[in-house]
Amino acid sequence: MNTKKIGILSAGGDCPGINAAIRGFGKAAILKYGMSVFGISSGYIGLIKKDVTELDLSALSGILTLGGTILGTSREKPFKKNKNSLDFSSKPKEMIENYKQLGFDCLVCIGGNGTQKTAFQLSEIGINVVGIPKTIDNDIWGTDISFGFDSALNIATEAIDRVHTTANSHNRTIVIEVMGHNTGWLALYAGLAGGADMILIPEIPYKENIIAEFIEKRYKDKKRYSIIVVAEGIDSPEKKYPGEYIAKRLNELTGIETRCTILGYLQRGGSPSPSDRILATQFGYYAAEMINKGDYGRMVSITNSKFSSIPLQVAASKIKTIPANHPMIQRARDIGTSFGDQL
Ligand code: F6P
Repeated sequence: MNTKKIGILSAGGDCPGINAAIRGFGKAAILKYGMSVFGISSGYIGLIKKDVTELDLSALSGILTLGGTILGTSREKPFKKNKNSLDFSSKPKEMIENYKQLGFDCLVCIGGNGTQKTAFQLSEIGINVVGIPKTIDNDIWGTDISFGFDSALNIATEAIDRVHTTANSHNRTIVIEVMGHNTGWLALYAGLAGGADMILIPEIPYKENIIAEFIEKRYKDKKRYSIIVVAEGIDSPEKKYPGEYIAKRLNELTGIETRCTILGYLQRGGSPSPSDRILATQFGYYAAEMINKGDYGRMVSITNSKFSSIPLQVAASKIKTIPANHPMIQRARDIGTSFGDQL
């Protein structure tokens, strides 16, 4: 019987589906492979502080549909240099010591880009690690999709649907700002799903005069309202509030009554969508299978609907942005959606 002892943590921003992944991993690890599973609290902080609790089958029960993460999370980056010093912090050393003292055979790190980068750094200093990709941003390199994205897409799409009716009643333009960090995946998908007239994403630089002309033309064409979806990562002088900035500039340039709604953390909260539950459960299962085979230093991934894995080094090497020739951008343009770059 396999007696591997595994620590599992979630790090970075939370998203729907983390608990489904913990459950999928834990149940497969215990039931199929006879491993023991320990939850590490609050991301990498829990390993530094040795804050761990065994996750038995009863602890893994009833969490599939739960949003957030039962383990807690943090944005702790243990490899970051100390402020005002050229020295690396002592945290990685403490983490290795604790990993050994706890008798772990492997760590499972559920997280986005930053988490996978730290996971890679840990694997470089001798810790066995398997990564599981999660983020609402869908920007992790090496996997077609990560869980959290579909749930956020559902929430953002519903919000866009809802602003249509109020924009129509008031004859207004509504700017709706969605998350996505430095990429526009969520804006592009939600914008298309919600029938936005214009979608602004970091990958396509916009021009203010084009935005103004496009929206003005819609009113001239007797459209009662317009919906603009703005990704939070677009370049704007008001870095923190790009949606507000676009709404203000549109109003200044055209006089059209414009309002902005920022969806914010709503997009990360609540129960995961059915697709995310399935994806997270399968990612969890594959992580257990990889550990059983001793396939360490890799992140679970999905490409063309097939589960696989890629080296953590590759996953951590860059961010997945939307390619300029992405078919969805072309299709959106074909049906008259503007990206604020051309009329
Ligand atoms: O990466 C997930 C994400 O929700 C981004 O979309 C957003 O930019 C960021 O996290 C917000 O981070 P925080 O939780 O630190 O406010």
